[in-house]
Amino acid sequence: MKSLALASIVAGLLFTGAAYAQSGDDLLKSKGCLGCHDMQTKKVGPAYKDVAAKYKGKSGAEATIIGELKEGKGHPMKVSASDAELKSMVERVLAAK
Ligand code: HEC
Repeated sequence: MKSLALASIVAGLLFTGAAYAQSGDDLLKSKGCLGCHDMQTKKVGPAYKDVAAKYKGKSGAEATIIGELKEGKGHPMKVSASDAELKSMVERVLAAK
């Protein structure tokens, strides 16, 4: 009985974790990035696959871009998102092909 209770607690935690962790894709949508960006095509802003190509092989690309988005430097507006959200979105952008 004890192990059953434990198993259900663990399952509950896993489930909660999954519900809160939003994927980069979800965040790009919910933060409105896709209003100006598309994975494949240039819109108001550059296509994410072009951004990924531009930064390919550059060290510190993720940190550079997160900085730009946070400060609104090299980006038309400051992006309001937590550090974890920014990281997840930028990782997704840099993985675009
Ligand atoms: C109002 C339109 C608009 C919105 C909304 C927007 N962007 Fe952009 N974004 C741009 C434009 C325009 C550029 C090109 C800026 C430049 O090159 O000077 C850009 C550039 C970028 C770049 C490339 C930066 C670089 O160093 O090359 C990334 C990455 C990016 N945006 C991510 C995002 C993310 C993530 C979001 C959502 C949180 C977002 N953008 C929302 C218009 C937008």
